[in-house]
Amino acid sequence: MSAGETEAEREVGALTAEEAGRELARLAALLAAANTAYHGEDAPEMADADYDALKRRNAEIEARFPDLKRPDSPSEQVGAAPSETFSKVRHEVRMLSLGNAFSGDDVADFVRAVRAYLGLDEAAPLAFTAEPKIDGLSLSLLYEGGRLTRAATRGDGETGEDVTANARTVGDIPDRLREAPARLEVRGEVYMSHADFAALNARQAEAGGKTFANPRNAAAGSLRQLDATITASRPLKFFAYAWGVTSAPLADTQSGAIARLGALGFQTNPLTRRVGTLAEMLAHYAEIETGRAGLGYDIDGVVYKVDDLALQARLGFRSTTPRWAIAHKFPAELAWTRLEAIDIQVGRTGALSPVARLAPVTVGGVVVSNATLHNEDYIAGRDSKGQPIRGGKDIRVGDWVQVYRAGDVIPKVADVDLDRRPEDAVPYAFPSGCPVCGSEAVRDGADAVRYCTGGMICAAQAVEKLKHFVSRAAFDIEGLGAKQVAAFYDEGLIAEPADIFTLEARQDAGELDLYRRDTKGRPTNEKSVQNLFAAIAERRRIPLARLIFGLGLRHVGEESARLLANSYGSWARFEAAMTSAIPGEGPAWAELIDIDGVGEVMATSVVTAFHQEAERASIDRLVAHLDVEDAERPASDSPVAGKIVVFTGTLEKMTRAEAKARAEALGAKVSGSVSARTDLLVAGPGAGSKAKKAAELGVETLDEDGWLALIEGS
Ligand code: IVH
Repeated sequence: MSAGETEAEREVGALTAEEAGRELARLAALLAAANTAYHGEDAPEMADADYDALKRRNAEIEARFPDLKRPDSPSEQVGAAPSETFSKVRHEVRMLSLGNAFSGDDVADFVRAVRAYLGLDEAAPLAFTAEPKIDGLSLSLLYEGGRLTRAATRGDGETGEDVTANARTVGDIPDRLREAPARLEVRGEVYMSHADFAALNARQAEAGGKTFANPRNAAAGSLRQLDATITASRPLKFFAYAWGVTSAPLADTQSGAIARLGALGFQTNPLTRRVGTLAEMLAHYAEIETGRAGLGYDIDGVVYKVDDLALQARLGFRSTTPRWAIAHKFPAELAWTRLEAIDIQVGRTGALSPVARLAPVTVGGVVVSNATLHNEDYIAGRDSKGQPIRGGKDIRVGDWVQVYRAGDVIPKVADVDLDRRPEDAVPYAFPSGCPVCGSEAVRDGADAVRYCTGGMICAAQAVEKLKHFVSRAAFDIEGLGAKQVAAFYDEGLIAEPADIFTLEARQDAGELDLYRRDTKGRPTNEKSVQNLFAAIAERRRIPLARLIFGLGLRHVGEESARLLANSYGSWARFEAAMTSAIPGEGPAWAELIDIDGVGEVMATSVVTAFHQEAERASIDRLVAHLDVEDAERPASDSPVAGKIVVFTGTLEKMTRAEAKARAEALGAKVSGSVSARTDLLVAGPGAGSKAKKAAELGVETLDEDGWLALIEGS
């Protein structure tokens, strides 16, 4: 930079990340002032051409430094389509995700697990398909009578968004199929090529519009446009790789089904292969990885799927992933940079999470300036068992650290360069108090996480709980996102989830004035407030799993919430059980711990929440406003739904794992031991003490064929 030159005068290409950040702040302020003058005060202060030039400069800087894009970015303020306005589509067959493998050993474990589940020995042939994992967004296309009648995004896997008009504009998506099953749902990935992405971003920057951080964001942003003519102008592509509902099977094998999809007119990935051994799987992975840079579109791994569809059907699903497929991810991208500071964030459960503030660095095409440091042991160089990690090297402010990111995940700090450690660097002292509310922060047993003990009095916990409550997988209230609840909390309008449901009554009673202004301080009209009330009212009726997840209990994620909901069925049963359970003893505890997937840690956390006075009162206040939908018990019309079943002895037609999974899929609970609560014992040859005990207790006993006859057809 020549002497006296300011950031405002510099070419975008010559800005450092630090300068770019300052320049983006300056542009945001200038453009916001210009907007207010133009729209609000009817007194434009800036010439249109100057305004456009500033917007263009802002877009160019954002294109170069996507990570520095501000939450109040001027490029977000025009034509940003609120996702709320797409109508919702419930998937007839859930759209699942894939389990991950990060090494050849993980893939070997996967193959072993598949064989073990199916009871196949090492010599039995077992083929897979191997294909690239496309880094785009998944889309479901329903064809009825050979015509495309509906297209939907994945959403949360159960409910997606209707993007039919947009999908029709994508060249790779046929409008009509010849000789297709009467009903056929084709699934695959929408993506954008590197060349099309670069051209789109250049066009957008030129026009002063929104630019995208990577091709996947560009594809998602382009597909989810309310105005389908915008989607039509975007160069989207589509690969078909799976299917949902079909009125007639496509083929007997995965590879046959993909060939059929190709014959029907879909693009299928040319690197898809049928492979017969672990060695062939890994060889194909290596081949795809070698060719990755030359493909012209982003992929983030290789997906292996069991080829035989009858075996896929036997293997079935875990709660969110199939047992018959796995994604073998490519290694994460790495970079070195300086650790400038360590900040502590307080989460909804009170967990203190250290965040690394980094000198901005490009990792795999994205500028990274924050990374997670997990917990205090991780910073100190120890794992959860006290064993050294990174050779015991601790992490200090001022250190050069190695940062990596794999796919979507938050960047992490992997390593430290001790040779470049500044002489005055000191070991990091993890705070023993909450940085937000000042309460003591404690560790519990072997848990490496330190928790703020402030509970409801801690503003950070309260706000994070509210944000979690309105998040997409929880209550997902239209028009009430993370930013809005935080602003409502700051203004004293809401302190806990229950307060959201009293906003309307308090407004009517004149206790608050929501019409005065919105969360950004601008005047709001009556209509948007009424829309908000309507959206809140709509969520008074809520599925049990969403409610349990929304409570934000420690160790209870989306999947665990679904497990609990499916096991107890109704709020009344769940609440009664949690209230009467005592950690470590009694039948209510035994029933909870018996649920496959519920461990002691999670069980203790849930039960404790129901016994803590303040937390319990807050839950009760919330539920008083709700009409909780019972969980749909899987296949509840099956004769074994709700029954407690025990398997013993040798099973000959299936493995124990398969028997258990099938019983659970039919709504039965599978237990390891016989008690007075057992409904049914399935005993194969060699059954011993369990059969004896069942006879003593008068528990009904069947052999394997009897069991298969009982569940046949359900
Ligand atoms: S199969 C039941 N095959 O990866 C599993 N998924 O991490 C159905 N994806 O949501 C998915 N390429 O969006 C499958 N060749 C491929 C894929 C693929 C990309 C995406 C898909 C899915 C995600 C799971």
